[in-house]
Amino acid sequence: MSKQRIGVLTGGGDCPGLNAVIRGIVKSAANRFGYEVIGIFDGYRGMLEGNFTILTSDKVSGILTQGGTILGTDNKTNPFGVVEHVNGERQVVDKSDACVDFYNDLGLDALIAIGGDGTLTIAGKLAEKGLNVVGVPKTIDNDLMETDITFGFDSARTTATEAIDKLHTTAQSHHRVMLVEVMGRNAGWLALESGIAGGGDIILLPEFPYHIDEVVAAIRKRHRFGKKFSIVVVSEGTYPEGGHQVYRKIVEEDTSAPARLGGVSNVVADQIEEKLGIETRVTILGHLQRGGTPTPFDRLLATQFAIRAVELVDERKFNHMVALQGNKMVPVPIEKVMGKQRNVPKDHYLLKVALSVGTSLGVPMEKVVNEQVGT
Ligand code: F6P
Repeated sequence: MSKQRIGVLTGGGDCPGLNAVIRGIVKSAANRFGYEVIGIFDGYRGMLEGNFTILTSDKVSGILTQGGTILGTDNKTNPFGVVEHVNGERQVVDKSDACVDFYNDLGLDALIAIGGDGTLTIAGKLAEKGLNVVGVPKTIDNDLMETDITFGFDSARTTATEAIDKLHTTAQSHHRVMLVEVMGRNAGWLALESGIAGGGDIILLPEFPYHIDEVVAAIRKRHRFGKKFSIVVVSEGTYPEGGHQVYRKIVEEDTSAPARLGGVSNVVADQIEEKLGIETRVTILGHLQRGGTPTPFDRLLATQFAIRAVELVDERKFNHMVALQGNKMVPVPIEKVMGKQRNVPKDHYLLKVALSVGTSLGVPMEKVVNEQVGT
């Protein structure tokens, strides 16, 4: 029998730990199963353009600690809806057959897709077209269904927490309100967890549209008790009650997630300054949260995901994503993840933790407490 061949690609926004997964896949495929691994460049774009390389253990040596992805990534190409401009007219074309041809021409036995909801949704649709697919859950947003945590999240949480720590001292020295805007798209995990870890005074989440009067009241109360500075951790996806999210821009060629969030903290800061007359400053962490070396937690998680993904190929358990549930690595059907997002549940225990240490969530306390008991 000829050697089995696995294709691997990284899709969507990058994050620390991608290289650790690639390394784990290549090494375990070679060491345990004698499989060959083909690395596909720039996510699904590489499948459409036929851009790939053979990955040997040598090529992945030394990448465990490196951020980014040696394969490159792309968060715009959806083979099921490629945006083209023909004679000045915008068209959305289904090119997914080219991915199937790529897979067959290379004689792949399986495709391991490392990515978030967009990448895994496309993987699931390719599985419907007959490809043997295994998914690995990546994202700093931690918003994938069926897994307790995605790799990349812990590294981003660490970066955000360190930033909050640094802003604390300057906020204190200057008696200022400091807002720090973190990523996370429509999920508040990054803001909630870095906010608690960094001792944020107010945390604004997409799951709880904020009331500016509550934000102002929380800062005023701190002042009354002698705390002349405040730290507000703002999730980029939050918005005022009855209002809407703030977009940095809309990306026309991206059919799956055209809206790029960013800048809501400027809106909140202006309102705080206007209502309280306290000097207020904004730091938007942006892509810093996606860079740097993965934390030990993410290296471990990424390596475990990688090993389990190759085992699934060996077991011929296709069209599943590897997931961490409790302390177990389990396969979950990829359709359970496709097109869905895992938000912070309204009764999540960390909300109670935040409130218990006196952190405001920018909404009337009763609102959160009532949500917690399901009323
Ligand atoms: O999904 C990861 C993420 O970093 C989000 O937190 C953020 O909203 C988005 O990607 C930013 O995307 P881009 O790199 O295209 O600006």
